[in-house]
Amino acid sequence: MNAPQSLASGLAPPGTETALSAESVSFAYAGTGPIFDQVSLTIRRREILCLLGGSGCGKSTLLRVLAGLETPSAGRVRFLGQPLARPHPRSALVFQQASLLPWLNVFDNARFGLDFKHQPATDADTRRVRVQAALDAVGLSGREQAWPAQLSGGQAQRVALARALAREPELLFADEPFSALDAITRAEMQSLLVEVVHRWHAAVLLVTHDIDEAILVADRILLMSGQPGRISHEWPVDIPHPRERHPATLTALRLQILAALRENTAAIPTHP
Ligand SMILES: Nc1ncnc2c1ncn2[C@@H]1O[C@H](COP(=O)(O)OP(=O)(O)OP(=O)(O)O)[C@@H](O)[C@H]1O
Ligand SMILES: [Mg+2]
Repeated sequence: MNAPQSLASGLAPPGTETALSAESVSFAYAGTGPIFDQVSLTIRRREILCLLGGSGCGKSTLLRVLAGLETPSAGRVRFLGQPLARPHPRSALVFQQASLLPWLNVFDNARFGLDFKHQPATDADTRRVRVQAALDAVGLSGREQAWPAQLSGGQAQRVALARALAREPELLFADEPFSALDAITRAEMQSLLVEVVHRWHAAVLLVTHDIDEAILVADRILLMSGQPGRISHEWPVDIPHPRERHPATLTALRLQILAALRENTAAIPTHP
């Protein structure tokens, strides 16, 4: 498949079909108590779902379980209707650090992983077209031969996003992908993320502890809190993009989320 087409409207609405579902999923690391317990959630196709929560509440761990990087202690995860036992070839991951290979140029870094055996078989020309389309989409046309050491943090994260898009993922798992970036670059990357995942028709699970990031990009926000973690609140966000044009609605939602965070923090005992 060549670069996915933009829809006439520019933005595809989230689907109603399920990309991923988690039913009563629990998880504990070896030697720890439960990190989260009985978590159930659904990620719809083409939906940007933000998982918001305070530091240490288990967001990254939940993402790793949903991505198939960790095995749940109880419950089950299904990806496109099938039980998930390992990372699915139609999923991709982006983390806080771009993790580029210093000995590969931008193009080869973005292509990295596409040649692996578990990826759907495609010929070399198709792979090249996919990588170039992804690099063009993230604004890196002309920088294909650059080395990672020659890139800014924002550009490196664009390569990481291109690498993920080149896989044409059904679902992109992103764990605080922009939190190491300065405020201006971060805002640019948030807009870029919304634009490209809509063009690629991908769903996203975006983990963040930044309320503003969540309300600017999400179709739906889940709040995780407690020990063990649980999903305590959910907000659909149907504010049209670009959302900066709706400051009053954004502020109202922000205040609701802050109130829920305060309520949850108050519910956690501070003394044993
Ligand atoms: N490999 C591990 N082994 C044991 N405990 C772990 C491991 N990784 C994380 N934890 C613990 O699991 C809990 C949840 O951690 P996790 O990284 O999922 O939180 P988080 O919500 O992503 O936090 P942050 O916002 O700071 O990234 C923490 O108490 C942490 O110490
Ligand atoms: Mg984390």
